[in-house]
Amino acid sequence: MAEINIRAVTKTFGKTTIMEGVTLDIRNGEFVVILGPSGCGKSTLLRLIAGLEEITAGEIAIGGEVVNRLEPRERGCAMVFQNYALYPHMTVAENIGYALKVAGVPRAERTARVAETAKSVGLGDLLDRKPGQLSGGQRQRVAMARAIIRSPRVFLFDEPLSNLDAKLRVQMRHEIRRIHNQIKATSVFVTHDQHEGMTLADRLVVMNRGSIEQVGTPSEIYDRPASTYVAGFIGSPAMNLLPGQLVAARRGVMLEDGTLLPLPGGEGLRDGLMVQVGIRPEHARMVSPGRGRFDARIDMIEELGAARLCNLVFEDIPFSLLTDARPALAPGAVVGVGFGPGQTHLFDAGTGARIETGAGVSQTDRNPARLRGAV
Ligand SMILES: Nc1ncnc2c1ncn2[C@@H]1O[C@H](COP(=O)(O)OP(=O)(O)O)[C@@H](O)[C@H]1O
Ligand SMILES: [Mg+2]
Repeated sequence: MAEINIRAVTKTFGKTTIMEGVTLDIRNGEFVVILGPSGCGKSTLLRLIAGLEEITAGEIAIGGEVVNRLEPRERGCAMVFQNYALYPHMTVAENIGYALKVAGVPRAERTARVAETAKSVGLGDLLDRKPGQLSGGQRQRVAMARAIIRSPRVFLFDEPLSNLDAKLRVQMRHEIRRIHNQIKATSVFVTHDQHEGMTLADRLVVMNRGSIEQVGTPSEIYDRPASTYVAGFIGSPAMNLLPGQLVAARRGVMLEDGTLLPLPGGEGLRDGLMVQVGIRPEHARMVSPGRGRFDARIDMIEELGAARLCNLVFEDIPFSLLTDARPALAPGAVVGVGFGPGQTHLFDAGTGARIETGAGVSQTDRNPARLRGAV
């Protein structure tokens, strides 16, 4: 087991800098998820930790030891990939035990350890099969077992569930977390899927174009996204963002139609600053016209089963709202939109950075029972 310290790491390919000044401390035994869209540098960061790519500048330490100059096999990392990379001509048992065989572990010990590891990932009955005779989920388990058996200091996962269908992905997600809770090895898991990230992570690292945008627990990031980028990436459907201007004297934001949205706290705001007000679709609710913060027109209502996603339009800006009611309203109808002042997020329109208003999202404001009376 080991902590990982990434200090001011930069990576360039030729003349292109694809990662700049990345600093991150991963604690011993922690499960960290690196989250970001395709191309933002997630795989590169993993490959730098594993030693599959060379660091251009900066330092990476594993277990307190700088590994910049160490070969991949000297770093004690096991990597699990999306495409499994199993040997097709070998049985499940041979695939799982291959690293031990190469390391010269005697046959009897190998057999015992393979059996034990296979059992821990639910493959106990499939030891004699070839990869071609396995389902996608079973192959992924073989890849996991092959990593676990080496007792690595660090597990590195590069989108290992992307090839699985939705149901299996959720199941394997739980399995990976269960295995982690058992063996508690430091794990770094890369994904572009926010649900995977939210459910697996002790801490999430949100990346944007080669740098880290925010680090925090899933709920910290959901409750206080550090930027409009994070706000748009975490949460589903994405947070609504309404442009406006700060009016310090009235402790609120003036929207384009003249509506004033009060802000919680609201001290020390820079008067006249152009901002974006964020409201999550699950924190807004539909009320009678004139009874909410503002009125909007229904564009389309999508049935999600457990809830309805109402796509509204306010001053030409799309605004979505989740409701568990079944509104009997047709497109074109005008409705009121309500939300508590504590459920607004404020961002600088120029930089995208979060502005703290002194109060933030409070527990009371998240209580739906109280909320209903709040408008
Ligand atoms: N070997 C390479 N040579 C040149 N550019 C690369 C190489 N590997 C990755 N890149 C570039 O670095 C960026 C980050 O890639 P990657 O780490 O694979 O992103 P992600 O895993 O988040 O999708 C991309 O723009 C990609 O094109
Ligand atoms: Mg990748």
